[in-house]
Amino acid sequence: MSEPQGFRPAQPAAVPTPAAATAVEVRGVDKRFETRSGQVQALDAIDLTVAAGEFVSLIGPSGCGKSTLMRLIADLDDPSSGTLTVFGKSTRQARLDQEYGIAFQSAGLLPWRTVAANVALPLELHGVASGARANRVAELLDMVGLADFADRYPDQLSGGMQQRVAIARSLAEQPRLLLMDEPFGALDEMTREKMQSDLVRISAETGAAVVFVTHSIPEAVFLSDRVVVMSPRPGRIREIVPMRLGADAKRAARTDELREERAFFDMVTAVREALHGGAPVGTGPRGVETR
Ligand SMILES: Nc1ncnc2c1ncn2[C@@H]1O[C@H](COP(=O)(O)OP(=O)(O)OP(=O)(O)O)[C@@H](O)[C@H]1O
Ligand SMILES: [Mg+2]
Repeated sequence: MSEPQGFRPAQPAAVPTPAAATAVEVRGVDKRFETRSGQVQALDAIDLTVAAGEFVSLIGPSGCGKSTLMRLIADLDDPSSGTLTVFGKSTRQARLDQEYGIAFQSAGLLPWRTVAANVALPLELHGVASGARANRVAELLDMVGLADFADRYPDQLSGGMQQRVAIARSLAEQPRLLLMDEPFGALDEMTREKMQSDLVRISAETGAAVVFVTHSIPEAVFLSDRVVVMSPRPGRIREIVPMRLGADAKRAARTDELREERAFFDMVTAVREALHGGAPVGTGPRGVETR
């Protein structure tokens, strides 16, 4: 029997094990690609632990290996050396167990399925009954502002709308881990801020951990508990900046007012300086938005 899915908080395990307290563990990971023009070292000695329920953003110049790291966590590729685990399981097992929802750079929708049927897919795979599924899909489409587009097909939507369908799909099952690679990149600024607020609220309510790639420093600051700053190729972790956002540090309490507060600007500056490796901050590095 499947239970109806609503936005209820994730139930913690009765006796949390150390593995359950860690969403993602990356140890000594290198990734090299063989190309016709030689070897490309995309990631070099990456160590990163993401706690259950924690929101961590990856930021760094274009080509520094952010998507590569996400693909390794999602078991879409293998590391050249080092280990990765997701909730204490191998990445393969975590994928088979559908431990996480994914929203990546391209929306990746099934063109022959309607918007509603795309969002319903993870629920179908998990055998959620059709009535509960329909309710959940309606709730999700409403949240991403696409309630009127349920019966359309992906090629009838704009890029930003397709991206919102992918986000709704990634949230369908309230996974305890969300892997999001520039999910808001194709959205207009107003929709983007609304989706940021929704994501911060949903992840706080459901207790989901999130690994989030972005090129926008303010977006990373608004959403995250910690911001991982990466250096250009070979991708290394340059610095991990904890977000100290004063009274609004609790994710559930983050509202649009935070975007205008002193603590917010201080954190934006801290991340910018980390990106520049302590050098004086002039124009942003290639591929990183400072707006
Ligand atoms: N399948 C592949 N074969 C060869 N090289 C690859 C492959 N995938 C990624 N790379 C290289 O690895 C490096 C890191 O790429 P990646 O896509 O992870 O960067 P990124 O940080 O996500 O960049 P962006 O911000 O532009 O999305 C780049 O130099 C890229 O060319
Ligand atoms: Mg990328």
